[in-house]
This record gives sequence, structure tokens and C-alpha cells, in this order.
Amino acid sequence: MATITKRLLLSDLVSTDKIDQVPSNYIRPITQRPNLQSVVHDSIPLIDLHNLFGPNRGQVIDQIGRACRDYGFFQVKNHSVPELTISNMMQTTRDFFNLPEQERLKNYSDDPQKTTRLSTSFNVRTEKVANWRDYLRLHCYPIENFVHEWPTNPTSFRAHVAEYCTSVRGLAVQLIEAISESLGLEKEYIGRQLGKHAQHMALNYYPPCPQPDLTYGLPGHTDLNLITILLQDQVPGLQVWRNGHWVAVDPVPNTFIINIGDQIQVMSNDKYKSVLHRAVVNCDKERISIPTFYCPSPEAVIGPAPELVTDDEPAVYRQFTYGEYYEKFWNRGLATESCLDMFMAT
Ligand code: OGA
Ligand code: NI
Repeated sequence: MATITKRLLLSDLVSTDKIDQVPSNYIRPITQRPNLQSVVHDSIPLIDLHNLFGPNRGQVIDQIGRACRDYGFFQVKNHSVPELTISNMMQTTRDFFNLPEQERLKNYSDDPQKTTRLSTSFNVRTEKVANWRDYLRLHCYPIENFVHEWPTNPTSFRAHVAEYCTSVRGLAVQLIEAISESLGLEKEYIGRQLGKHAQHMALNYYPPCPQPDLTYGLPGHTDLNLITILLQDQVPGLQVWRNGHWVAVDPVPNTFIINIGDQIQVMSNDKYKSVLHRAVVNCDKERISIPTFYCPSPEAVIGPAPELVTDDEPAVYRQFTYGEYYEKFWNRGLATESCLDMFMAT
């Protein structure tokens, strides 16, 4: 009698079982499908960070402020993360997802509280419809608290990922200072509010999909953290909500995509918006994306910056700890697009 194995990971369902149709648990109801024909191809601002530490810093800060206000998304070039660090990160991710199933599964967990885990979809414990994605999620700051949990296969994994996250943390701190300044706050304001700071990353693997118009890699959502620094390979998939349309943001080599997360929206008292975005999949090609989520530490108290609260613009949100927000985010399973509604001032 043939044995039927239930596969934990989507990549193994796709590559080993050679499915030619999307299984029913991945299919979205008709009104919630990606409607790929109506997607617009456009770009988001591309900001050159070369001048961030020179006499023209003010101009770069203005560009960043405008992008945060008008788009919630921008790309950066001349960002100081070495090309080799980036290509090693991409390669080690590819090598990880190419390991045999048994080897990868050593890292599997569906518990969102675990600080290192391989999983699939978004939160398999709470969601009703699955997403076309596997992912390895890592906490990575302070690095010495977590590096011993990370995979050791591929053998270069820890070294390459450690180098990448350290370098990207430098960029995150620079951007957060620039964002503080662009809001008219002290350069150190946001950084100081974050407690000890935290940094997470996801290594997202989106297998080719036989029917990409029925499902998502990730459905529309906002990011819960402060800012996200996204590295992606050359396969398109990211789409950003703007003026009533989904806009496809095609990859530009050696740039990162930066987006504002919910915590900046709160601290800025709604001056900057945490914008909806989603990842769609395609028939032919696997896609890898590697978001770094820069975040407050769990005990950090988040709320609108007092300087941005006035009689005309009262506080939109109440104060909360990031730990409280984090738990609500994972429990709702991306069923609603954003959690901010649960934290409004009364
Ligand atoms: C995310 C995300 C987009 C992408 O992981 O939060 O939005 O292109 N990813 O994979
Ligand atoms: Ni996201």
C-alpha cells in the first residue's frame, strides 16, 4: 500500500510531489485573489545615501522624509553594505533551501515565539488559508544571544548571515536617525525609545506556483516593526498599495527596499504611513526575498512622540509595549491587514 506523507514544507510538496494545481487550502475566495491583470508597473523613490554624511545631509533627509510621507516605501543605493556580503547572504539562503528535506526539517517549528525556526505560510496555527511560502526566521540582535541557534548547514551559514546582519544593522541605525531628523525630532530620539533594540530577519522562499492568480506568497499586510530593509533576488513579486492600485516594484540590483512599519507610524503620530504590501508568486521561477525587520525590544514603550502631539493633532495611538503589539500581530494570522486599529487612543 502506498504511504501518503503529509509534507510540512511547501517546497517539498512542489518539488517532490510535482503538483500541477494549487491544493485547495491555498486557494483564496474569488474576491480576495491577487487580480494580477490590474497591477500597475511603476517605481518608488530611489535615494542615494552617498551624501548622508556630507554637507548635503539635509537634502537626503528631505528626500527620505518625503518618501516616508508620500509612499511609505523607498529604495536606497550607496548604502554601505558590501556587494560580497549581499551575494554571500543570497547564496547561503539558496543553498539552505536546496538542502534535503530531512536536513531542513531539523529547524522546523510552528511556534511564533521561537527565536529561530523554519516554517511555512504565515502562522499555520491560526490561519484559514495558507500562503505560498516557506521561511526561515531568525532573531539576530544582539547576535551573540542567537547565533548558536542558527543552522550549521550550509557550513558557511552562520558566518555569512552574521556578517550580513551586522552590516544591515549599521544601515538600519543610520536610517532611523535620518527618519528621526526628518520628523523634526532629535537624531537620537527614535533610537532611544527602542530599549535595547532588536533585529529579526526572514529568509523567504517562494516556490514556483502552477496557478499564481489563486494564491499569495504573502497577502496584503503592513509590517509590525519599525523599518524593514528588504533584499530580493531578480525575480519580481513585491507589490505596494498606492492610490488605489497595487504597484509592482521590480528589483533593482544592489539596492535595498526600505519600508516604514507600524511602530514608525505610531511614533510619528500618523505623519508617516505603514503601507500595505504583498508578495505574489509566479509559474516559472522560485523567488527569494530577505527582509530585515528592525524593531524595538519587547519591553520598549511605544507611543506618539510628544513633540508631534498638539491640540490640533492629538495623539492617535495609546502607549503600549512592543511585546504586546508583537503578540497581537502573530495571533491574528494576517486575517486583518493591520493591527494598528487595536491600539488607538480612546
Ligand atoms: C514580509 C514581506 C515581501 C517580499 O516578509 O513582510 O513583505 O517581497 N515580504 O517577500
Ligand atoms: Ni512585509
